[in-house]
Amino acid sequence: MVYFPLPSPATALTVPKLGEADGIFLSLVLPTYNEGENIQAMVTTLVKLLENRWSGQYELIVVDDDSPDLTWQKAFNLSDTYPQLRVIRRTEGRGLSTAVIRGWQEARGNFLGVIDADLQHPPQVLLALLAEMERGADLAVASRHQSGGGVSQWSLVRRLLSRGAQMLGLLILPEVIGRLSDPMSGFFLVRRQAIADCPLSPVGYKILIEVTARGRIRWLAEVGYVFQERRSGQSKVTWRQYVEYLQHLCKLRLSLSSRFLQFCAVGLTGVAVDMAILFILTEPSLGDLPLSRSKIIAAQLAILNNFFWNDRWTFQDLTQGQNSPSQVSKRLLKFNLICWAGLGINLGLLNFFFNFSHFNRYLANALAIALVTLWNFWFNLKLSWRVTDV
Ligand code: GDD
Ligand code: MN
Repeated sequence: MVYFPLPSPATALTVPKLGEADGIFLSLVLPTYNEGENIQAMVTTLVKLLENRWSGQYELIVVDDDSPDLTWQKAFNLSDTYPQLRVIRRTEGRGLSTAVIRGWQEARGNFLGVIDADLQHPPQVLLALLAEMERGADLAVASRHQSGGGVSQWSLVRRLLSRGAQMLGLLILPEVIGRLSDPMSGFFLVRRQAIADCPLSPVGYKILIEVTARGRIRWLAEVGYVFQERRSGQSKVTWRQYVEYLQHLCKLRLSLSSRFLQFCAVGLTGVAVDMAILFILTEPSLGDLPLSRSKIIAAQLAILNNFFWNDRWTFQDLTQGQNSPSQVSKRLLKFNLICWAGLGINLGLLNFFFNFSHFNRYLANALAIALVTLWNFWFNLKLSWRVTDV
């Protein structure tokens, strides 16, 4: 069955939810660009692998970006023999990651997957991935860096580039790349519910990073495999993919940190309130009150200021529909308790920096506030607002 050319996406793409009963078992996307010499072997191998156990319950979706070698035409000719094969030909724009998501948008499977169409991902590893998904994994990844994994004859340069890219990812996006032993893998299965309606906007080649970062991935399984040598055709990886990988990491870093950046912006208004009250209360010509007592009053007013803005802005996606007076006061109480604990730490740090390190008192206060901000963000996210999310 061939699809008419699909316009390439301008904005984030989402994979639709499906009723469990409506879906089939598996939709496996094969992204292709000039795989005309590999596509027949790929399709027949996959059908042999899946047919006896999942006949009628799986589909293979070739998503071709208008290959000059007419891969889409060759695949379409195969679909007479293999009705479980669907072919999408994209005529606007090119890109591996968006091709995969486009395929998933057309898919009917409860398990969604991607495999390279050049036989470098051994198809039989799919059975091990499916076993993990049937055990309950949200995401099952074929990894070159798990036991039994590896690459065939990769040059030292390519190995170093791949490992270097992984190290860079660990630096920029540890909470995502740290979950994967092979973040560069393009061979994995994901449970549809884990990514349904999540806005996916990958850049370049690495769809797995986007899925891991944006999806609701609680159970992540990995299976070792050996990346094979290409039998025919060429790898499409150029320096451009490495630049796009870096862009992708930075884009995700910014978007995953936007909440933290908002929390810090609110924190800055709190610092202004804190400092202004501290000034008014401690200046000899004004309040002339002792430092600690003034700090406590200043901090409490700053806490109320921060709660108001965080509840209305930073965490507003988590508080929608949970704004009854009791729910808000419960959040305010938790926020206060966490911030009071943070204030205790802040006082300790303030006195340590001021009395032991002999920093200027405003510098000591700013340093103490910076360290306590990390404490406040993490515990408030997990205990004050994330709880409402659940
Ligand atoms: N539709 C579409 N559009 N498919 C593409 C495009 C594109 O722009 N570029 C590449 N592909 C397809 C290829 O036809 C192949 O099926 C698969 O994506 C992988 O492309 P290769 O060019 O063979 O990549 P590689 O062999 O260097 O593999 C590396 O990248 C893969 C994709 O992330 C390795 O990191 C693999 O582990 C990884 O799966
Ligand atoms: Mn390849």
